[in-house]
Amino acid sequence: MLTLLVNGTERKVEAQAGEPLLWVLRDRLGLTGTKYGCGEGQCGACTVLMDGKPVRSCRTPAESTTGKKILTVENLAKEGKLTALQQAFLDEGALQCGYCTSGMIMSAHALLAATPRPNDEEIIRHMNGNVCRCGTYQRIVAAIHRAAGGKRA
Ligand code: FES
Ligand code: FES
Repeated sequence: MLTLLVNGTERKVEAQAGEPLLWVLRDRLGLTGTKYGCGEGQCGACTVLMDGKPVRSCRTPAESTTGKKILTVENLAKEGKLTALQQAFLDEGALQCGYCTSGMIMSAHALLAATPRPNDEEIIRHMNGNVCRCGTYQRIVAAIHRAAGGKRA
């Protein structure tokens, strides 16, 4: 039995030794906003924040996250109101199939927390490990700029 701190709440879960955080979130806690893409740490679809830093939950054993603050996409919107970043993704049409989107948003959320007005280079460097098979990269960059205040730094 593990005790994990997920989205500000202590959750007790049964998990096998080495079981990836991704499957604990999705299958045991019902938090299916976090997606399975490659399972090899290469695509970023499974990105969540651990103590504010993006991690690939497919490659993170759940037991290694005890005592850490896990944040998933489900905890961004409050009372039905999207965050500025989520709204910017919609406004810029920064998604097509949407499969990469929660991972993109979690990575971008961490970027904006550390760098409130990133320039193109900072965005591209930070988001480099998140893959969008639909190729919406330019719109994702635009959405991050929009969330940061609407102007390109
Ligand atoms: S599913 Fe985790 S990086 Fe691709
Ligand atoms: S919107 Fe389809 S993978 Fe990014």
